[in-house]
Amino acid sequence: MQDMIYTGSSVATMIKGDKPYGLISDATFVVQNKRIAWVGKTADLPARFVHMKSEDLGGRVVTPALIDCHTHLVFAGSRALEFADRLGGASYQEIALNGGGIVSTVLATRNATDEQLVTQSLRRLDCLIGEGVAVVEIKSGYGLTIEDELRMLRIARTLATLRPVKIVTTWLAAHAIPPEYRLRADEYIDQIAIPGLQRGVKEGLIDAVDGFCEEIAFSAQQIERLFKIAKSLNIPVKLHAEQLSDQKGALLAARYNGLSADHLEHLAATDVAEFASSGAVAVLLPGAFYTLRETKLPPIQQLRKHDVDIAIATDCNPGSSPLSSIITAMNMACTEFLMTPEEALTGVTRSAAKALNLSKQFGVIAPGVVAELAVWNIDHPAELSYWLGGCVLYKRISQMVEA
Ligand code: NIG
Ligand code: FE
Repeated sequence: MQDMIYTGSSVATMIKGDKPYGLISDATFVVQNKRIAWVGKTADLPARFVHMKSEDLGGRVVTPALIDCHTHLVFAGSRALEFADRLGGASYQEIALNGGGIVSTVLATRNATDEQLVTQSLRRLDCLIGEGVAVVEIKSGYGLTIEDELRMLRIARTLATLRPVKIVTTWLAAHAIPPEYRLRADEYIDQIAIPGLQRGVKEGLIDAVDGFCEEIAFSAQQIERLFKIAKSLNIPVKLHAEQLSDQKGALLAARYNGLSADHLEHLAATDVAEFASSGAVAVLLPGAFYTLRETKLPPIQQLRKHDVDIAIATDCNPGSSPLSSIITAMNMACTEFLMTPEEALTGVTRSAAKALNLSKQFGVIAPGVVAELAVWNIDHPAELSYWLGGCVLYKRISQMVEA
């Protein structure tokens, strides 16, 4: 990437302050050594930069590159028939208890070759990249043996060598109980989830640990045993919490200094203050809410009141959220959860970076952060939540790709 001055844009810095979106109109920013060196009003550009090569962005809006902080993007096959069953009245829980749901994707994923998994995953990843996404979190959770879970994470890491994107990997062996451990969830935690975590950490494959805390998956006690090991290994935790019922998972994640608790439709309003005091991010997943035709909203007002950082993600997965469009997720956050367009954009930039422990490098436009930006064919940043998907990206400015 060349050092360059970019003039002629409106820059949504997404820095917290008085101005919505941290917006600077008539802005210029300077990229030097793959970092942002300066951003401000064009009229204020310091003389030391004026000799540099420059590009006029034609009045477009610039934001930090987007971040999808919760996906299950590596998997094989689809669950279109389960979708049809659900529309016919079967619930997500019933399907799971009858051996379908997550377990059916586990069988498809175990049976797929590495090449098939890479090809299918790249299709979804390319959709995200085409919408200005530069950082994607990808979870394991469709292998459910030590080898298959580690294979998923290796494939996730491989994707970053094939595309200009940063991939963050999460150990989600505690996602479902595989058929061979039916009714033996504790043994599964002891024999697969924990030893696999220890091995994956040794191999440098794991950035964080996640679990599915739910009646149809793992109890808070079982998740806590896994979290204790994560803590001893110095790996941060996060949790699928309160998606279908209130298991007090968000408070468990908070007690373990979690990066985030995700879903949260059933988080009790009275638990928000305690959750907030931990500093964890609330990751909301409107694609899953929409797909499962949920009706109970996450406690947004309480989250706002207690100043919890709220991130938005696609939850890209074949069951509850077959969604590879972060722009659509932003729109859904507004239409379904009544978030503001500014909250939605914050949710896929600054707050998403915080949920991945990447706040110093990504998520805002400020001197020192990595030069990962998105330039949009729009006049105002609110448009990013307004368009229901679609092609609004003009281009990325990226240190991972020669733009
Ligand atoms: O985030 N809740 C658990 N995991 C996914 C769904 C996975 C699946 O159905 O395959 C979720 O919604
Ligand atoms: Fe998920």
